[in-house]
Amino acid sequence: MRSPIPDYLAEVLGSVESDETGAPADYIPELATANPNRLAAAMATLDGEVYAVGDCSDEFTIQSISKPFVYALALADRGFEPVLAKVGVEPSGEAFNKVSLDGGGRPLNPMINAGAIATHSLAGPAGIDAKGRFDRIVDGLSAFAGRRLQVDEAVFASEMDTAFRNTSIAYLLRAYDVLDEDPTAVVGGYTRQCSLLVTTVDLALMAATLANRGIQPVTGERVVSEAVVRQVLSVMTTCGMYDSAGDWVTQVGIPAKSGVAGGLIGALPGQVGIATFSPRLDRHGNSVRGIRLFERFSDDTGMHMM
Ligand code: DON
Repeated sequence: MRSPIPDYLAEVLGSVESDETGAPADYIPELATANPNRLAAAMATLDGEVYAVGDCSDEFTIQSISKPFVYALALADRGFEPVLAKVGVEPSGEAFNKVSLDGGGRPLNPMINAGAIATHSLAGPAGIDAKGRFDRIVDGLSAFAGRRLQVDEAVFASEMDTAFRNTSIAYLLRAYDVLDEDPTAVVGGYTRQCSLLVTTVDLALMAATLANRGIQPVTGERVVSEAVVRQVLSVMTTCGMYDSAGDWVTQVGIPAKSGVAGGLIGALPGQVGIATFSPRLDRHGNSVRGIRLFERFSDDTGMHMM
């Protein structure tokens, strides 16, 4: 007899399967070539059970879903004050790629590209070189996932070919002394971080580690402190879905983060980590069918925080 959870997940997946609304991201050329019909959902409980359906072992790039995890590493490595001095915690109400800075040139939050580029530069101890920092990020994100993650070199190269906007933002951050190193090199590191390959199951476990207040439910490793997780989940709640964060919080009510390859995670503190994958995006850069799946999960199970 099959367990009721996979049956439920399969039913919900089936209910959105025919929705072809939206389009895969095309500003990263390599992403536009990916099969847009892939669809997956996974849930990871805090005792390490994983339930997954659809294309749940297909790999895709993590993209902006790396942002909350690298923010967690920066907070853990540098402490709250030095990070808050460089990156704020206010929702921008603007798209993820806008130049949303405060009067002092500080990015409004770590979930938008400007804030994530600055946050990337804060991972690892002060003074670390670019390679050491990237190793720290791969080690840290791998600890959240519970397995070693690898870079998709083709997606990385493709995004770097067209990274004019992020490079411009990084130069502006350098002018404001938010960055204190070579802006092009920081964008390279940030873009590599976004090019790490994950599966929907990996993302559910990464989300479950946040939901479990920093302890990876399968390996038992404490990846970051409870205080860091509280900060990260707070910022995900207000800023994780960019300029649709208000719609998301009212309709779904789960701290979340999206990525332009089509991934979406939700972490419900003390309860569960959820991930979905579907590459067609809405105008905010969030996965259309991913949002529909989360709306169903929230409605059916009462997962809304309120
Ligand atoms: O920097 C970028 O534009 C991409 N590497 C990541 C953007 C992203 O995932 C936006 N999220 N939905």
